[in-house]
Amino acid sequence: MLSQDPICYETYQETAKWLQSRTKIRPKVAIICGTGLGPLAGALTNQETFKYTDIPNFPQSTVQGHAGQLVFGELKGKPCVCMQGRFHMYEGYPLIKVTFPVRVFRLLDVEVLIVTNAAGSIADDYNTGDIMVIKDHINMSGFAGQHPLCGPNDERFGPRFPCMSDAYDKGLRKLALNISRELDCSNILHEGVYCMVGGPNFETIAEARLLHKLGVDAVGMSTAPEVIAARHCGLRVFGLSLITNKVTKDYDCNESVDHEAVLSIGEMRAGVVQSLVTELVARMELNTAS
Ligand code: HPA
Repeated sequence: MLSQDPICYETYQETAKWLQSRTKIRPKVAIICGTGLGPLAGALTNQETFKYTDIPNFPQSTVQGHAGQLVFGELKGKPCVCMQGRFHMYEGYPLIKVTFPVRVFRLLDVEVLIVTNAAGSIADDYNTGDIMVIKDHINMSGFAGQHPLCGPNDERFGPRFPCMSDAYDKGLRKLALNISRELDCSNILHEGVYCMVGGPNFETIAEARLLHKLGVDAVGMSTAPEVIAARHCGLRVFGLSLITNKVTKDYDCNESVDHEAVLSIGEMRAGVVQSLVTELVARMELNTAS
């Protein structure tokens, strides 16, 4: 028995064609808005919106803080599509469903995927409200056999054994760091390693200490599956984590974390994240401008 039912190529095609028949916008950049970062989509001009419930074959989002819609539009003249609301493994979705939109984006001829997320910091020198440019990730759920590419491989998307040592585009990371200096926010910007855990509970202290030893800087419950699916089908990837809380590694600490705190930090930093992403999109090189 397979751990997840394959989705056939024609199903992705059906969704892509449905979208193409309803909008003239041909996005080159796709942006996944993480928890509390939905307002990012507000920067798009000439918006055309499709609710996930109306899009054939699309999974549905169940998390508070996620609107559940695709927003097509332009950022500084570049055609984009934003996911307001992503799908998480902890909602019960097989990872092939979590990554369904990424493959649809590929069929829409998207070139770059920008992923954002809310994350807890493991690194000692990060503060709540800081932003981490993702340099690399540890796909902890993949270690446990939960992987978006499990099952038969469709070569039309990519190879059976994709390389992942260049997952986060070096040029885009460098561009983002330069932009942060110009926007005067380099003091809150880091570059680091993200680790995806399954959730939905936040980490125990022993788990946090383990992640620290493994070289993790920030931990969250998303992103790695979408990035893997995107790299598999040849998209360039850029990732940002908004540090919404510090994960405690100290048994004497009485601080606790909850989802509301995660959402409120998202609100506080939405503007900075929006400016960074907008400038990045404005300046990134694409094969075809429209
Ligand atoms: N752990 C895991 N996921 C998260 C956290 C965290 O501390 N904060 C926001 N998402």
